[in-house]
Amino acid sequence: MKTLRIAEILKSGAVGSDITVKGWVRTKRGNKNVAFIALNDGSCVSNIQIVVDLANADEDTLKAVTTGACIRVDGQLVESPASGQGVEVQAKSIEIYGTADPETYPLQKKGHSLEFLRDIAYLRPRTNTFGAVLRIRHAMAYAIHKYFNDNGFYYLHTPLITGSDCEGAGAMFNVTTLDIANPPRTEEGKVDYSQDFFGKPCNLTVSGQLEGELGALSLGRIYTFGPTFRAENSNTPRHLAEFWMIEPEMAFYELEDNMELAEDFLKYLIRYALENCREDLEFMNKMWDKELIERLEFVLNNDFIRLDYTEGINILKASGRKFEFPCEWGCDLQSEHERYLVEEHFKRPVILINYPKEIKAFYMKQNEDGKTVRAMDVLFPKIGEIIGGSEREADYGKLSARVKELGMNEADIWWYLDTRRWGSAPHSGFGLGFERLLLFVTGMGNIRDVIPFPRTPNNAEF
Ligand code: 4AD
Ligand code: MG
Repeated sequence: MKTLRIAEILKSGAVGSDITVKGWVRTKRGNKNVAFIALNDGSCVSNIQIVVDLANADEDTLKAVTTGACIRVDGQLVESPASGQGVEVQAKSIEIYGTADPETYPLQKKGHSLEFLRDIAYLRPRTNTFGAVLRIRHAMAYAIHKYFNDNGFYYLHTPLITGSDCEGAGAMFNVTTLDIANPPRTEEGKVDYSQDFFGKPCNLTVSGQLEGELGALSLGRIYTFGPTFRAENSNTPRHLAEFWMIEPEMAFYELEDNMELAEDFLKYLIRYALENCREDLEFMNKMWDKELIERLEFVLNNDFIRLDYTEGINILKASGRKFEFPCEWGCDLQSEHERYLVEEHFKRPVILINYPKEIKAFYMKQNEDGKTVRAMDVLFPKIGEIIGGSEREADYGKLSARVKELGMNEADIWWYLDTRRWGSAPHSGFGLGFERLLLFVTGMGNIRDVIPFPRTPNNAEF
């Protein structure tokens, strides 16, 4: 007998056939004559109802059918007399794969808080909410690869261990095999990294961009999609120490083309979710965010605003709003500023461009004004910054001057500078934070709840 997934069974509606289902018990209830088991196998939010006629059931087996237990049911698919469900399974036999002691199993029934579920992240995929989030996460990862594949981009695998610091943010995790209690020292008393595994200091990557640019300047269009690491001590609902980032990089794209790609890409992903994750989105809409689907449709159906940083600052200053961090030209925007522009002023996504060079990374293309760079941040409702990117400085002289100006170590990125010496080309790219995208698409409020095993300050359990 073929084991079908519950999603397939509910769709097929093959009433009358003998089937096998395997899954985890969500609830069991009933009366003297009959027991109803709600079974879930992770294939969809919906449970399938198993009906057990107590007259023919083994009492000990049925006793072991408790919330969380894993069972196999053989039976017949029949039309359900109960409203709200098309079919149910009339059980002929039940086999217990794994019991779950009601005294100890933590996921009893419904209504656990998200905080509690974070402490048992190894079990939370068994809840409706995390089942839905993880299925949406999968669908978005698939859609990202599909989008780029269908548009002529190649998936480039950039290294996770690097000797360079792409963003210059200074918040990196070191990678070393030295004995940190007693490292080898140079004559000046510094740690002697020449004796380390790689013969020099290395760290986990904060971004695959620099290597991604090498791909763009040879293959034309590439993207990376992998984990990145930031040791910034920001305990916010939007920061992780380990997060996934999607970074396309394109030769012959100027800032304008880069913005167009970012908008088209985000809309493609949102449309994909609306068309392919409907049941999960409806569940999230009902349980967590009553405006979720409306918001997704709104973003899909409206053009993003394109705005100069300077104009953005003027709007913020003219708003009369008391911000926690007051802002002047030159300051880095905080989430409260970004959300004011998006949620209150324009009421739609905003692409903010031409930021002051002091608050952006060294590699961004310098504008003629000598003050700003061709940066772009895409700002989203509820999220703030979802994408950061730019046109890249393609001119060797300007790039190396900026590197010197910032006191960066040229020896770490000589290979990057070399790309501007031989066959340099205008090019652009951006980084989309995968979990920021998922916050938007699922309606969840905390980034710890859209990744299976979050890594944040003081938290690396599981
Ligand atoms: O703006 P960021 O720092 O840009 C870069 O790293 C560029 N090298 C990208 C590029 O141009 N190829 O980061 C890009 C995005 C942010 O907009 C945000 O969505 C996400 O990555 N992000 C984080 N997500 C979760 N936790 C963190 N700590 C994040 N830091 C950035
Ligand atoms: Mg950024």
